[in-house]
Amino acid sequence: MDADAQLILDRCDELAAISSQPDRLERVHLSKEHRAANDLVAEWMRAAGLSTWQDAAGNQCGRLEGSEPGLPALLLGSHIDTVPDAGRYDGMLGVLLAIQVAGRVRDSGIALPFALEVVAFSDEEGTRFGTALLGSRALAGTWDDAWWNLTDADGITLFEAFQDFGLDPARLPSAFRRPENLVGYLEAHIEQGPYLDDADRRLAVVTSIAGARRFALEIVGKAGHAGGTPYDRRKDALVGASELVVAVERISKERGVIGTVGRLEAFPGGVNVIPGRVELSLDLRAEFDDDRDASIRLIVEAAHEICEWRGLAFHQKEIYRADAVRCDLGLRDAVLQGIRATGDQNPMAFWSRAGHDGVAVVAVTPIAMLFLRCRAGVSHHPDEAVRKADVAAALHAYEAAVLQLVAGA
Ligand code: HGY
Ligand code: MN
Ligand code: MN
Repeated sequence: MDADAQLILDRCDELAAISSQPDRLERVHLSKEHRAANDLVAEWMRAAGLSTWQDAAGNQCGRLEGSEPGLPALLLGSHIDTVPDAGRYDGMLGVLLAIQVAGRVRDSGIALPFALEVVAFSDEEGTRFGTALLGSRALAGTWDDAWWNLTDADGITLFEAFQDFGLDPARLPSAFRRPENLVGYLEAHIEQGPYLDDADRRLAVVTSIAGARRFALEIVGKAGHAGGTPYDRRKDALVGASELVVAVERISKERGVIGTVGRLEAFPGGVNVIPGRVELSLDLRAEFDDDRDASIRLIVEAAHEICEWRGLAFHQKEIYRADAVRCDLGLRDAVLQGIRATGDQNPMAFWSRAGHDGVAVVAVTPIAMLFLRCRAGVSHHPDEAVRKADVAAALHAYEAAVLQLVAGA
């Protein structure tokens, strides 16, 4: 396991070198970096004995046939796209663990009652086009054609980006995987939170994945002279937005949900100009959808109150929504058995505050997740780090979970 764990870490470093930025990791959907990462991952999949293809949504796929051709497949995998200035393990570690498990199962010569597939999803984060899970939603058949008109920061539509990447948008539906051709989906991922590290534990089984909604918000006031405009005549959009940002934190803490404003931009952006307009993002997630939705209603109410008081206008546009999903008890049990095989007889189990491709894949097949510790819970940051011993333990647990499903099939 140790040598495999080192190989996985080395490959994470290789993938981390494929970035659109010279000084930090950023790899977005349908970019030339995505193409290079797909090619490298495909090479590793083939070295593990998998046949490989890129599906119509740009997901890189690999398959190990079962005891007879054409059997339904157990999907393993994660995503290989990143957030801006990312860590090198979020997503990529899960893809590489999956490839290693598939290779080890192939080498064991065990007769598989199902096929084993590895998927490197193309766009879990939504960094380029705003809405997320574009790869896994294509696989799940939950694609919305309205997404074709989404544009990136350069005004390129998703439709054009597909074509530039060499994909035919008209073939997108062929990425759909029919439920009868699938056995389930098992994903290994770093926790992206502090609970395992605080408890000094290596692994956990995920009970459910948070439901999340994302919004593009806008507050409109009136630009003006920073010196000549008295305060009682200002319509300062940035002061209004700042009050809203604080309200998001207050309401989220009060209600036990997780709200974040990750991006905020003031216009026209002159140091001596009162901001007349502000664009800001809202990411709101919770263990239960009704808590999430009730908190969003309170945040929107607060926005209207702030804007009314300050003579501002408030606009909101939802850009992403994924409801909370429960992990399948049967698959969860296999993951539990896998963790026990590593010697941890009382595995931790908790809900994932981070979103994952499983919230899309659950539309076509049951899902479960294996978490492994990341240092101090840091993620979506270049300081993201894992221990080799934890990667070895995750590989052991992941493989044992698959073999548990083989035995139980
Ligand atoms: O935002 C998330 O929770 C995930 O990392 N995309
Ligand atoms: Mn992420
Ligand atoms: Mn991730």
